[in-house]
Amino acid sequence: MATNPYAWLEASLATIHQANWYRSVQTIHGRPGATVILEGCEVINFASNDYLGLAGDERLQTAAIAAIQELGTGSTGSRLLSGHRELHKELEKGIASTKQTDDAVIFSSGYLANLGAITALVGKRDLIVSDQYNHSSLKNGAILSGAAFIEYPHCDIAELREKLHQQRQNYRRCLIITDSVFSMDGDLCPLPALLNLAEEFSCMLLVDEAHATGVLGKTGAGCVEYFECTGKQLIQIGTLSKALGSLGGYVAGSADLIDFLRNRAPSWIYTTALSPADTAAALAAIKIIQEEPQRRIQLWQNVNYLKQLIKEQIPDLKLLPTESSILCLQLPSAAAALTAGKQLREAGIFAPAIRPPTVPTSRIRISVMATHTYLHIEKLVNSLQKIQRGFYC
Ligand SMILES: Cc1ncc(COP(=O)(O)O)c(C=O)c1O
Repeated sequence: MATNPYAWLEASLATIHQANWYRSVQTIHGRPGATVILEGCEVINFASNDYLGLAGDERLQTAAIAAIQELGTGSTGSRLLSGHRELHKELEKGIASTKQTDDAVIFSSGYLANLGAITALVGKRDLIVSDQYNHSSLKNGAILSGAAFIEYPHCDIAELREKLHQQRQNYRRCLIITDSVFSMDGDLCPLPALLNLAEEFSCMLLVDEAHATGVLGKTGAGCVEYFECTGKQLIQIGTLSKALGSLGGYVAGSADLIDFLRNRAPSWIYTTALSPADTAAALAAIKIIQEEPQRRIQLWQNVNYLKQLIKEQIPDLKLLPTESSILCLQLPSAAAALTAGKQLREAGIFAPAIRPPTVPTSRIRISVMATHTYLHIEKLVNSLQKIQRGFYC
C-alpha cells in the first residue's frame, strides 16, 4: 500500500517544536531604525544588522527612487547578457576604492557571493579548511564546491596549522575560509595569523566581511583594515545588506580574481543582475561611509557605553567575548533564551534569542546601531539587570 511520502514533515516539525527550535517570522511595520513597530508595539531595536542606521536614510531612498525612475524596477537579465548597467560598474568601483583592491564584483546577495566565489575557486582535487563557527553561506559554498572539507576549532590557529601540516600536500589548491566578524558571537578572526599560515602553506584565504564593512577600520573598510592588512593578497567577501542598508553582496580582490569570477562564478553568471534600486542605494551608502566617519564614531561610542554600563551594573552577566558591535548574552538552554527574549520584548526591547542549530549554544544577540541614543542603551541595561536578578520570574 502506498504511504504518504510527505508524512515525515509533520513528525519533523513536532520534533523541532519539542526541542524549542521552532522559528517563525515577526512583522515589523514602517521604516527600519533604532526603534521600530514590531507586531503593533514600539520597541527599541537591538535586532538589526543596520549598524549605521542607513536602511532608513532619506539619501538612500532618494537614490533608489531616482534609479527606478531612470532605469526601471528590474535588471531584466544576467550581467553578461542584458542586465549590465553603468550603475553596477560604479558600485563595483566604489567597493574596490573602499577596500583598496584592484576591483570588485557585486552579487545579488552576500550568500550568493560566498557560494559563487567558493565554487569557482576550488573543486574535487582541492581542500577547504573552515572555522567551525563560519556562516552557513561559507559552509554550504564549501559543500557545493565538491572540495574536501575540514573544520578547525573556532579561531584555533594551532589546530589549523596542524590540519594544514597533515593535509595540505594531498591536494592541488587549498582555501582557508572564515568570517571576519563572527555573526552570532561578535568576536574577530585572527587575521594576521591566518595570513601567515596561508602564506606558509600556499593557501588562498577568503574572509567574509559581512559584519565588518562600514563598521571596523579607520575608514570603515572592515576587519582587513582594522588589522592593518590592507593590500595583502586575499579574497574579501561582503554584503550590501547590513551596514550598507541595501541588498546584495560582493567580492573584492585582485584584477585576476575578479576577472576569473566573472567567467566562472555560477551564482553571478546565471542569475539576474542586482536591481537598479538596490544598486543605487548601496552606492549612496558607500559614499556616506566614506564621507561621514562620525556615524562609525557614534557606533563605537554606543558600543563602548553599553559595555561600560554592563561592567558597572551587571558584572555577572555572561557575555561572549566580543570586539564588534555584536554582543551576545550566554544562556543555558533554548528555553531560557526564548524566555529572556520574551521578557526583553515585554520591556520594550527587541533582541532575539538565537538557538541551535544556528549556533551551538543558546544566546540573546544584541546588535548596537549608530542611531541608538544613550537612553536606548540605558533602558536595555536596566532590563538585562532585571532579568539577571530574576525580576520577571
Ligand atoms: C557572515 C555572513 N555572511 C554572509 C551573509 C549573507 O549575506 P546576505 O544577507 O547579503 O545574503 C550573512 C548574513 O546573514 C552573514 O552573517
